[in-house]
Amino acid sequence: MDSTLYKTKVTDAFNEAAATYDRLGVEFFTPMGARLVELAAPQPGQRLLDVGCGLGATLLPAAARIGPQGTALGIDIAQAMIEEAAREAGRQGIGNVELRVMDGEHPDLPARSFDLVLGSYSVIFLPDARAALARYAGLLRDGGRIAFTSPVFTRDTFPFLPPMFTELIPMSLLDHLPAAWHPEQLHRQLHSWLEVPADLTAALDKAGFTDVRITDENVPMTAVSGEAWVDWSHTQGMRLLWQHLPGPEAAALRARLITALDALREDGGPVRIEVPVRYVTATVAR
Ligand SMILES: C[S@@+](CC[C@H](N)C(=O)[O-])C[C@H]1O[C@@H](n2cnc3c(N)ncnc32)[C@H](O)[C@@H]1O
Repeated sequence: MDSTLYKTKVTDAFNEAAATYDRLGVEFFTPMGARLVELAAPQPGQRLLDVGCGLGATLLPAAARIGPQGTALGIDIAQAMIEEAAREAGRQGIGNVELRVMDGEHPDLPARSFDLVLGSYSVIFLPDARAALARYAGLLRDGGRIAFTSPVFTRDTFPFLPPMFTELIPMSLLDHLPAAWHPEQLHRQLHSWLEVPADLTAALDKAGFTDVRITDENVPMTAVSGEAWVDWSHTQGMRLLWQHLPGPEAAALRARLITALDALREDGGPVRIEVPVRYVTATVAR
């Protein structure tokens, strides 16, 4: 799949997901975003950029930390995500935020104009993220920093799913996906450099960063029920899987996931899953 078609599919999926993204009784992106901001530690008065900001899980807590003297620019390729983020900023009363529709792989922004570039679960969508990292280095002022998250990828883990779910998805279902969407292909094309810490450090080094810190931590994901988790999975990157599954296979997978997830609940409580997340920070090397 060429990169333009790929981006169109990603954009369409997130435009369709925006109205319900991260709002269906599952806690994941918000706690992950808050933790990323904690590790990035933006300072009052700074100017920051959030690439693939979605509804602002990272952008809004970061904007709150830099205060009224600071400014936070959120960019996203999906117009509907930007519109929802603007509404969310208004709801939270956060005024120092600017939002623009923009391809985060080729940000059209002035050189050396940011103190911090953020990207939570978004650089993983860029067809050539390593080239984009070098562009982010160019956007940073001297001593500026980057902070982003990705899943902790392993070769047997389906993208965007914790390892415990991998075996619930029969590989035969994946035959219905176009070759480029097969997990192995996706992994090879987009994610392999993120998997091995030494490769990730080398990629950041080549892009012009130093002092690379990689921290893998579990985000305690909670979902009010198995059904809520499956509904939620349609509102983020997994939508790209669901939309390729023929109806009967999608219905069977939905039932299988709900049963397995509900089996994790204790006394009618929520589903709790520890999801490994990789937090990466680095400083521009000048
Ligand atoms: C899984 S969401 C994460 C959103 C947000 N950072 C959060 O943590 O909730 C991925 C986001 O990246 C955006 N995205 C994907 N490709 C992009 C690109 N090339 N440029 C800018 N945004 C992109 C999607 O539209 C989506 O909003």
